[in-house]
Amino acid sequence: MSTPIVRSVAELRTRVAAWHKAGERVGLIPTMGALHEGHQELIRAAGRACARKVVTIFVNPRQFGPNEDFARYPRQEEADQIRAHDAGADLIFAPTVGEMYPDGYATSISVSGVSDGLCGAHRPGHFDGVATVVAKLLIQAGADEAFFGEKDYQQLQVVRRLVRDLDIPVRITGVPTVREADGLALSSRNVYLSAGQRALAPLLARTLNEMASRIAGGAPIAATLADGLAGLRGAGFDEVEYLEARDVVSLVPIETLSAPGRLLVAAKLGKTRLIDNVPVLPKAAP
Ligand code: PAF
Repeated sequence: MSTPIVRSVAELRTRVAAWHKAGERVGLIPTMGALHEGHQELIRAAGRACARKVVTIFVNPRQFGPNEDFARYPRQEEADQIRAHDAGADLIFAPTVGEMYPDGYATSISVSGVSDGLCGAHRPGHFDGVATVVAKLLIQAGADEAFFGEKDYQQLQVVRRLVRDLDIPVRITGVPTVREADGLALSSRNVYLSAGQRALAPLLARTLNEMASRIAGGAPIAATLADGLAGLRGAGFDEVEYLEARDVVSLVPIETLSAPGRLLVAAKLGKTRLIDNVPVLPKAAP
C-alpha cells in the first residue's frame, strides 16, 4: 500500500479544507523525500497529535549552493509513498519546481540572527531557501501543526522564528533525532558514505555526548570544544566546519553553562557533509 500524491497547491488545499470541515486536526511533515526511519518518526509524532498527516516531498533548489548535491540528491518517490503509508501518512504533496516557483517568482524570506553562523556561515543562502520554501508550504497547506527533526537544529530555530515573525497560524513541533544503533544520526545523505567513512561517522555523536557530559560536570566549554575538535580531526574527519556550544533558542555562542545549551557539529567525510547536535544541560542544584 502507498500514500496518494497530489501535485498542485489547489488539490492540497481542497483535501485539507475537507478534513478541517470534518473537524479533523491536520499535521504537516515537510521533507525532501528519500524518506527514512527519522522521517517516519516525524509522521508518527504527527499521528499522535493530528487525525490527518500530510507529507511534503520537494527537493528545494533554492536551499542548495552551486557546488552542493542538488542534482544527485536521492529521489525515490515510489519507495517514499510506501514508507509514508507505513508510518500512517494520508497524503503526499509533491509539487514540481514550476508549481512552487512559477515564472516571475521573486520573493525570498530571510530570517536574521538564528540563520547566522553554524550552517548559515558555511552554506550561504541556505536558510533563505529553507525559510522561503517552509513559509510557502505552511501557507499552502494551512495545517494546524508542523513537525521538524531536531537533527537540523538550526533549521528548527529558523522555522520557529519565521512562524512567530510572520504570524503564520501553525504550531511548530521539534522531534528528537532518530539514530542508528551505533549513534549515527539518520540522514538521507548517509547513503553517500563509503564503508570506511560509515565506520568513522558515529564518532560525531560519540564526541558530542562525551563533551556534553564533561561540560555538564563542570569542564570549561572552550577547552572541551578544543579537545573535541582535535579528536575529530585526529580520527580522520576531512574537515570540521564547526563544533560549537550555543544557547538552545537564540543560538548565540555560550562560554558558560548557566542555561540549557546545545552542542552542534558539522564535519565532512570526503565530500559528504554530516551534521549532528545534542543538548547540554546545567546540573540541577543539589
Ligand atoms: O529538512 C528538510 O528536509 C528541508 O530543509 C525542508 C524543511 C523540507 C525544507 O526544504
